Amino acid sequence: MKEQILEIKNQLVEDIKSVNSPQDIVDIKAKYIGKTGLVTGLMKNMKDYAPEERKEIGQMVNEIKNEVSEIIQNRENEINTAILNKKLESESIDITLPATEIKEGAPNILEKVIEDFEEVFMSMGYDVYDGPELEEDKYNFELLNIPKGHPARDAQDTFYVKDDEYLLRSQTSPVQARVMLSLGGTEPVRMICPGKTYRRDDDDATHSHQFMQIEGLLVDHNISLSDLKGTCDVIAKKLFGEDTETRFKPSYYQFTEPSVELDISCFNCKGKGCNICKNTGWITVAGAGMVHPNVLSMCGYDPKEWNGFAFGFGAERCAMLKYGINDLRTFYNTDLRETRNFDRKEQD
Ligand code: DAH
Repeated sequence: MKEQILEIKNQLVEDIKSVNSPQDIVDIKAKYIGKTGLVTGLMKNMKDYAPEERKEIGQMVNEIKNEVSEIIQNRENEINTAILNKKLESESIDITLPATEIKEGAPNILEKVIEDFEEVFMSMGYDVYDGPELEEDKYNFELLNIPKGHPARDAQDTFYVKDDEYLLRSQTSPVQARVMLSLGGTEPVRMICPGKTYRRDDDDATHSHQFMQIEGLLVDHNISLSDLKGTCDVIAKKLFGEDTETRFKPSYYQFTEPSVELDISCFNCKGKGCNICKNTGWITVAGAGMVHPNVLSMCGYDPKEWNGFAFGFGAERCAMLKYGINDLRTFYNTDLRETRNFDRKEQD
């Protein structure tokens, strides 16, 4: 028996040298301590010995079993540690490598200008409304005092969609009519509506078949042109800087009387004259005026009782001026180099 045990030990010492993988461990366990393993075989042979010998032999077999298990276990630990180390090494991160640049987004500047408008007007108690881009002729023209066949329609080369009744709105002013009608002529109106508008213009640096306007309307009692002037002053200062001045020049719109154009003092040259203001010191940014009594009454407000003002800003124009962009088309192309530039301008 002793020789047998010694032989098994020697064999194990040899075998263990070539154990290098988890599968080798499985195999060597089976060979020595598995069901039909060499050490297990020794235990099975116990019955062949005389009872008085069994105790001593049993001890020897137990010892060899423990010894063999320990040797295999140690090898298994070594192999597992080696595998783990290798894995850690291959997954290690070199913190000295340069990081990949993260492209940070920023609000689109056209959107930002619109948000500035919304913020200022909401702080003055205005609500922000939406209106359909596919509009009825009735709202886009008729209720704004521009009846069918009126020459004022020619100024807005309109995309008609169906039977001269439906069109892509050529201005955001129809939302004035929609809001007044929805309020029923009984309560004051304070609204702005930023939105897309469409005209059959050829696209160039200052025209686009699709552009954005920011419409505004206030209807209440005893409103005057100076209320409109004060309101325009607030938004002009917020958008273009505290030292911005405003002035009105006479103009003509069918839905306002009197009608004006809003000029702001040139923020670039401060009135001295430069190429942005075409050497006049002033830049036009909106059309505006006192709401025409016909519009009020067609939209359910009694003009003897109610009056108000309205305005329409060109959103792209404001953004172009504010951020020094000289081609309107850049807002609508998808060149990331340009839109990223917008991001940078915004972050300046
Ligand atoms: N809708 C006008 C346009 O597209 C702009 C405008 C002028 C809007 C005067 C108004 C206004 O509300 O009162 O040219």
